[in-house]
Amino acid sequence: MAQILVLDGPNLNLLGKRDPRLYGRETLAEIQNKLRSLASELGHQLDFLQSNHEGVLIDRLQETLNDGTEAVLLNAAAFTHTSVALRDTLEVLVPSIPVIEVHLSIPEGREDFRQRSLLAPVVSGRIEGFGSLSYLLALRAASGLIGARGNA
Ligand code: DQA
Repeated sequence: MAQILVLDGPNLNLLGKRDPRLYGRETLAEIQNKLRSLASELGHQLDFLQSNHEGVLIDRLQETLNDGTEAVLLNAAAFTHTSVALRDTLEVLVPSIPVIEVHLSIPEGREDFRQRSLLAPVVSGRIEGFGSLSYLLALRAASGLIGARGNA
């Protein structure tokens, strides 16, 4: 059994109220329930945190270096496009802990200011555009990466 962190950034606590054409109608709690079911099928344990504060996200990511976390699913939301600080944290983490960047929508298909992910160059992989299914696919990817490491 592996411990996997699911970290969500600003405004994702408003899922269900945000533009449903982009983000669907499910709440974050509903997505987390789906993730819990899949994690128990795959034999993993999940820890969830959503924060609207960059520093809180960074503190939690730094904790994974010492708390037994084996993979991270990260939807950094708007910080994806702005946060050099988050990127610097990921740069330290990713050699030892795989981080999957997750998006409900396809940011590159949207406004100019969403065209660039500052995180993309340093994450293990990215899954976007599948709505809540992006999270479930990312969990499967994380599980595969953990399994591959175990077999190496
Ligand atoms: C998002 C895409 C970001 O550009 C946006 O700021 C979000 C959500 C997504 O999941 O599609 O808040 O990360």
